Amino acid sequence: MRIDILTLFPNMFKGFLEESIIKRAMEAKKVVINIIDFRKYSTLKHQKVDDTPYGGGAGMVLMCEPIVKAIEDNKTDDTLVILLTPQGKTYNQQKAEELKGHQHIMLICGHYEGFDERILNFVDEEVSIGDYVLTGGEIPAMAITDSVVRLIDGVINDASAQNESFHDNLLDYPTYTKPSNFRGLKVPDVLMSGNHAKINDYRYQEQVKKTKENRPDLMEKNDEN
Ligand code: ADE
Repeated sequence: MRIDILTLFPNMFKGFLEESIIKRAMEAKKVVINIIDFRKYSTLKHQKVDDTPYGGGAGMVLMCEPIVKAIEDNKTDDTLVILLTPQGKTYNQQKAEELKGHQHIMLICGHYEGFDERILNFVDEEVSIGDYVLTGGEIPAMAITDSVVRLIDGVINDASAQNESFHDNLLDYPTYTKPSNFRGLKVPDVLMSGNHAKINDYRYQEQVKKTKENRPDLMEKNDEN
């Protein structure tokens, strides 16, 4: 799989690409991640990429030209081009699974007041990572890349990819490790019992309890099915 990230701030991705699971996935050639500075596609003085909004108002708007040139220069017939904006459809685990099925995705990070609306003619979809506004699309691009790469076969062990939050619209079950007694807080007896049927049942009940408590909206989705 290949993921291209178009950004004005390539340095923001250094730590992200050079540590832990993402780094290992790249080394193992499970994924190729290209960070592309779209400023270099600007033909204007000082490599300008933004300008004031028509109609007035605060802030600067990203111009179409450098972004469209960057898209055209890096796109293939298989590319899914995604614009990251707070106005997009909300990202979730199901979307991560869907993106994992693509050979090549391109994530476009905005900054400032946003994009010239005409950019929508050159992208496949708009995606938001939640109902809050960030200063740019770089953190959303990292969140999406991370959530997709960990799903690629062989990147993490399969059991942990399966038994996780949002699988079957349930949150994950609670986990514990040593010591069995931390400042008087004990690990539930059932987890020490060695009885795997009971452990599985306990974990499922805990998933349901936690989901009802923290995410009643997910629970309703389960009831609909
Ligand atoms: N850019 C700024 N905020 C964003 C968000 N919530 N999702 C995607 N891109 C963004």
